[in-house]
Amino acid sequence: MAQSIGAYNNVSVEPKEGVEINVRGLKKYFKEIKAVDGVDLQVKKGELFGLLGPNGAGKSTMIRMLTTVLTPDAGTAIIAGLDLRKQRVEIRKLLGVCPQEIVIVETLTAEENVTFVAQMHGIPTPLAKQAASRLLSQLNIAGRKDRAKNFSGGMKRRLNLAMALIHNPKIIFLDEPTAGLDPQARRLVWDFIRDLKNTGSTIILTTHDMVEADVLSDHIAIIDQGKIIAQGKPQELKEKFGTGNILEIQFLHQPDLDVVKEKLQTLPFITKVSDVGEQRVLVSFSGGLKNFVATLQQGIVEHINEVENISFRQNTLEDVFLHLTGRRLRE
Ligand SMILES: Nc1ncnc2c1ncn2[C@@H]1O[C@H](COP(=O)(O)OP(=O)(O)OP(=O)(O)O)[C@@H](O)[C@H]1O
Ligand SMILES: [Mg+2]
Repeated sequence: MAQSIGAYNNVSVEPKEGVEINVRGLKKYFKEIKAVDGVDLQVKKGELFGLLGPNGAGKSTMIRMLTTVLTPDAGTAIIAGLDLRKQRVEIRKLLGVCPQEIVIVETLTAEENVTFVAQMHGIPTPLAKQAASRLLSQLNIAGRKDRAKNFSGGMKRRLNLAMALIHNPKIIFLDEPTAGLDPQARRLVWDFIRDLKNTGSTIILTTHDMVEADVLSDHIAIIDQGKIIAQGKPQELKEKFGTGNILEIQFLHQPDLDVVKEKLQTLPFITKVSDVGEQRVLVSFSGGLKNFVATLQQGIVEHINEVENISFRQNTLEDVFLHLTGRRLRE
């Protein structure tokens, strides 16, 4: 009997309403290296899915399998209703892929590079030129009319991005789209990606930059040593695995900690009060900013005297990664 869609060996995955990419048991080993070691994930239609992990975690290997460049050792996926194992050509047509390694023709200009890719997609030249000009100006490289070999690394990366998107793909894979960009170019690309999200495309983005993952993603999967170790909305992850949001209170004089504790611990959401010296006290909170605001409304300042300054530090995804692995994202 013929196997149904999404079934491969003993693994099967069903098409699911609202889910653009449904991955089950995906594996890729390179000899003893378990690059991707049994990954399940679901990417909803129209969402930006961030795959966050340190160097060597398996992000690019995941992308290569989902974009049909590499054949998985085990597992499978359904992408836009198509079977990754059996409908590679059809899947390929729906994708826009910006690989981690820059692939451009150095002897062509930026516009020529983009229109060259457009031709391969069968887009008529006048339309291709229009779209290329729009993309290049959004990415702030329209001013460069010379050959791409003269471009800086950051410009080449932005050109690579334009080339991946010229055909308005329905599903977009961006492998470390801001690697090597200066802070200004990084922000420009973030804005560009946000605009891209508004067009309704589904985007899978890899990064080892926790701020990038946090600000852009609707949903994040944290990958480490080929395995997904946590996933959820950025705020959910920070609330679940973070060390707690922290309020730092700077006093005018060294306070009596017992008195401060006694007063603060009557307030909701406060989990810990600790003295860190130099007239400073750290107050740990459960939950997010909302709880902090609720506590402020209860009049935290009125409960203690002689405060010089109060600052608030929210959990970061770095805290989440540290909590889960005992390591920092960048070591
Ligand atoms: N073609 C290959 N042959 C052998 N080993 C490979 C190959 N491709 C990847 N690997 C190994 O698989 C592991 C995962 O690599 P991968 O490139 O997927 O990581 P990554 O998360 O993308 O890392 P980075 O942030 O550095 O890009 C690494 O140990 C890597 O050395
Ligand atoms: Mg990579």
